[in-house]
Amino acid sequence: MKIALLGGTGDIAEGLVLRWSKVGHEIFIGSRSDEKAKGIAAEYTQKLNELGIVSKMQGMPNADAARAAEVVIISIPPEHAASTITQIRDSFTSQIVVTPVVSMAKKGKVFTYSPPPQGSSALQIKEALPETTKLVSAYHNLPAKELSQIDQVLDYDVVMCGDDDEAKAVVKRLTEEMQNLRVLDAGPLEASSMIEAITPLIVNLNIRYKPQHFSVKFV
Ligand SMILES: NC(=O)c1ccc[n+]([C@@H]2O[C@H](COP(=O)([O-])OP(=O)(O)OC[C@H]3O[C@@H](n4cnc5c(N)ncnc54)[C@H](OP(=O)(O)O)[C@@H]3O)[C@@H](O)[C@H]2O)c1
Repeated sequence: MKIALLGGTGDIAEGLVLRWSKVGHEIFIGSRSDEKAKGIAAEYTQKLNELGIVSKMQGMPNADAARAAEVVIISIPPEHAASTITQIRDSFTSQIVVTPVVSMAKKGKVFTYSPPPQGSSALQIKEALPETTKLVSAYHNLPAKELSQIDQVLDYDVVMCGDDDEAKAVVKRLTEEMQNLRVLDAGPLEASSMIEAITPLIVNLNIRYKPQHFSVKFV
């Protein structure tokens, strides 16, 4: 599939780019800076080449990446995700859009869930997108570092939610192409706040039990 990652130069995007490139998807790395996007695309292409993997990857501005893709990942910090979408709104038509975005605050030594007024980051992003797009909320609890080590088997659950069953089926398939991830469907997009709220708990545990990188698995 043609997959764009807005803010594709950042931490969570790296593993998604490398793992989806490995299984043959065409990747568009989006950025505010065309130069930065092209530099990161060249770096990841070389990394994959050294592993004997031929990838189809290009770097470009966020707007062009979104326009070119069937699936768009919003891999941008929470305070800038909705505003970035608003700036490039014309690039969206009927794409599947995936949000891993989680809004957190730090209170003393502890991270807490700090959702926007809409109730969750997913609902805020939905408001910014044209209604013709299909939004799926997923990947909030994947640790970027483990994800970027592409030979590492990820024995985690990915809890997703969204209002479009076909879009969720596509995201499930893309997710299960990353070795050992299991997808659990938590229902409509309204459920996103519950999934997002797990993230600060994991971050706090990761700090306390460093160098462990926890994720989620339901047994
Ligand atoms: N890191 C994780 O382990 C993790 C796990 C699960 C979910 N998430 C979620 O995934 C999202 C991305 O997290 P991340 O850790 O990958 O973030 P990050 O590395 O800090 O940033 C990702 C990219 O966002 C772009 N960006 C930064 N400031 C921006 C601004 N003012 N306006 C527009 N774009 C901006 C940058 O790309 P350019 O400079 O190239 O434009 C940057 O490379 C967050 O919403 C986070 O909640 C993260």
